[in-house]
Amino acid sequence: MSLISLLADGQFHSGSALGSALGVSRTAVWKALAVLPEYGLELETVKGKGYRLSCPVQLLDQGVILHGIESPIRNRLSFTLLPVVDSTNSELMRLGEGEDEFSVLLAEMQTSGRGRRGREWVSPFGKNVYLSMAFGLPGGPEVLAGLSLVVGLSLSKVLSRHANKALKLKWPNDVMIDGRKLAGVLVELKGEATTAWSVVLGVGLNYDMKEDGENGIDQPWASLRDFSSVGRNELIAEMIQQLVVDLDQFRLSGFSRFREEWNDLDFFAGKEIGVVGQAIIGRSLGVDAKGNLVIDAASGKQTVNAGEVSVRARSA
Ligand code: BTN
Repeated sequence: MSLISLLADGQFHSGSALGSALGVSRTAVWKALAVLPEYGLELETVKGKGYRLSCPVQLLDQGVILHGIESPIRNRLSFTLLPVVDSTNSELMRLGEGEDEFSVLLAEMQTSGRGRRGREWVSPFGKNVYLSMAFGLPGGPEVLAGLSLVVGLSLSKVLSRHANKALKLKWPNDVMIDGRKLAGVLVELKGEATTAWSVVLGVGLNYDMKEDGENGIDQPWASLRDFSSVGRNELIAEMIQQLVVDLDQFRLSGFSRFREEWNDLDFFAGKEIGVVGQAIIGRSLGVDAKGNLVIDAASGKQTVNAGEVSVRARSA
């Protein structure tokens, strides 16, 4: 048991009770408590009562997560849960190939969380979901276009089971709710493919992000807790399960099988959109069978390739 898990309930704990639960001296407890602010955890100290976290935290629980995944899928995974890491994607990129078909890595906090297009992904402790998965994907370059769209779709399926508002997908893979970003996907490749791509996909979901005005997020965002009461652990189990199911299907039959479902959730559907850095402006026609965005522009139909551009709505 760790100090944070003892304090997670938000109740007061005396220094001596913490020390005996952890098998360390009160001085050691005091030193460990002094580190908590580095995790963004605010501690209250009251004489005669002890210490408590100003806000209780619902910690990730490996047992609950694995229990929530059906065993045929669970048996194909390796699973690691870290309190802190620079970035779950970076960590999986550094690791060698595992024995298992899917390597899953989760963290409570990322010190250098990375978003698409070189952006930072704000990753405070115990609040959100920072999930990465490494796996092999057979095929040539054409298989990659649809992959990140399938991941966004997979997340939206799980989230729509729990959220009280409709989910949308903003090409290529932002999950939107109430017009704001709820989750994002970062797909990275380890080295050159010979017969299969070695893929690391990262999912960041705002679960209980606070509106503190200083979180540094540079675009409108939403937090799942405002739309759902689902627990973080149960949700993660469902996400992993759904991702494996959809990735299996994607490996078998590519993106075309997902196209209609994706287009049903297209955030840009029927809207005038512009492609950043390119003089393409027009109405979104959704995605084609490869996952490219098709735009009805003045110059005719334009196809925009995933990963090269980002898109912004010009008008609602
Ligand atoms: C985006 O910009 O929309 C993609 C965000 C991806 C964030 C996740 S959090 C888990 C994984 N580790 C990272 O450093 N990034 C991804």
